Amino acid sequence: MATKILTEHIHVPGIETFDVYRKQGGYTAVEKAVKTMTPETIVEEVKKAGVRGRGGAGFPMGMKWSFLAKPEGVPRYLVCNADESEPGTFKDHYLMKNNPHLLIEGMIVSSFALGANTSFIYVRGELMYVINILEQAIAEAKAKGFLGKNILGSGYDLELVVQPGGGAYICGEETALLESLEGKRGNPRNKPPFPAVKGLYQSPTVVNNVESIATTPWIINNGGDAYAAVGIGRSTGTKLISASGHINKPGVYEIELGLPVEDFLYADEWCGGIRPGHKFKALVAGGSSVPILPANLALTLANGDKRLMSYESLSEGGFQTGTMLGSGGFIVFDETACIVRNTWNFSRFYHHESCGQCSPCREGTGWMEKVLHRIEYGHGHQQDIDLLVDVARKIEGNTICPLGDAAAWPVASAIRHFRDEFQWHIDHPTEATQPGAVYRGE
Ligand code: NAI
Ligand code: SF4
Repeated sequence: MATKILTEHIHVPGIETFDVYRKQGGYTAVEKAVKTMTPETIVEEVKKAGVRGRGGAGFPMGMKWSFLAKPEGVPRYLVCNADESEPGTFKDHYLMKNNPHLLIEGMIVSSFALGANTSFIYVRGELMYVINILEQAIAEAKAKGFLGKNILGSGYDLELVVQPGGGAYICGEETALLESLEGKRGNPRNKPPFPAVKGLYQSPTVVNNVESIATTPWIINNGGDAYAAVGIGRSTGTKLISASGHINKPGVYEIELGLPVEDFLYADEWCGGIRPGHKFKALVAGGSSVPILPANLALTLANGDKRLMSYESLSEGGFQTGTMLGSGGFIVFDETACIVRNTWNFSRFYHHESCGQCSPCREGTGWMEKVLHRIEYGHGHQQDIDLLVDVARKIEGNTICPLGDAAAWPVASAIRHFRDEFQWHIDHPTEATQPGAVYRGE
């Protein structure tokens, strides 16, 4: 039986209420942390656990915590990034909606470890009903003495504030989120300084994803070593995967890192295989920002070994033959999917969501969208494929925030692996623009 760190109790009826959550062993990590541990020992356990940031970047969480500056007399903040907006990613939403107390418990122990007395959960604005669920759960926890002044008589105070976002994808970028939280337009800041040094209101701030924070109660209860014993190599623990597309069983699954991609895709326990009568064509393994892979590379490494669901295995081969685990948005395409159309669709999204601060992103995402649109709609020029490669290359690495890279990588990888399909659109404009037309090889 696979280890369940985040979803063990998620199907227990009433788990969203304080009493049921408590009956399942909830809030024992808060008791243990504030009564028997110091902030330093908690940071040590999280470091030992080796948990890597689950928002997408995979930066080691304990290391981020230990970078937090601690100047005298300056408040520190913990901000939970619950602005989940990456296309294909819906696991934080699932966790908050079904088990809000797990996140709240994680916020309490993490805030205690970081010395924060006011912490924020910044939730994607469209999820008003999730915001209501969280606020209800916070009120319950406060009424039971787990939040507010002098938590469980420990002398530790914590206020937890839920802040709705305004619906912009860019506000999921941590510094844009902080700007938005301060009441400004969500424009990303240049880094460094990192938020750990100058974050919210110019004070030291840790920004962590929902799933990352939700791992901390288990780590406190079971120890960092026990967490590190789950998973594979430097990809410790479990990961929530949002599975969507042409599969039999879309949904959110908690897997142990190290599971073969093939097992996750085909086994009944998880995706249950490609829908009947169709063939696996391509995979976006980590949300729309990561390179797309054709089926063979998604399942198998260059040496013939199986590719695994881990940070290292998914990126094996670099961007030539690999991709990234990212936020765990696992989008599966069968042979009926048109890669040109999908790439245009992603580009349209990034162009729309670019904040417009830096020219390579503001202009480049618009060019890519326009060029992809004309290829898809039968007006492509012979030089367009190389033009797209060139524009993508000029965006990558030349922008303030990762949205530029996120817009460039899907285009560059789609052309790298499916160039024939782009060429076919240019060579057969009439055929390619028929409803449902898809290139299926010569
Ligand atoms: P990043 O690699 O710049 O930073 C990762 C984290 O480590 C940040 O919190 C950063 O402040 C911290 N950090 C890095 N170096 C540091 C240092 N020297 N000192 C202190 N702190 C340091 O990546 P970023 O911008 O946080 O995330 C990009 C990823 O987000 C993308 O790869 C994408 O997969 C993902 N993403 C996820 C979305 C979602 O809805 N879940 C939406 C959009 C993107
Ligand atoms: Fe804004 Fe794009 Fe520049 Fe990020 S890369 S700061 S989204 S213009």
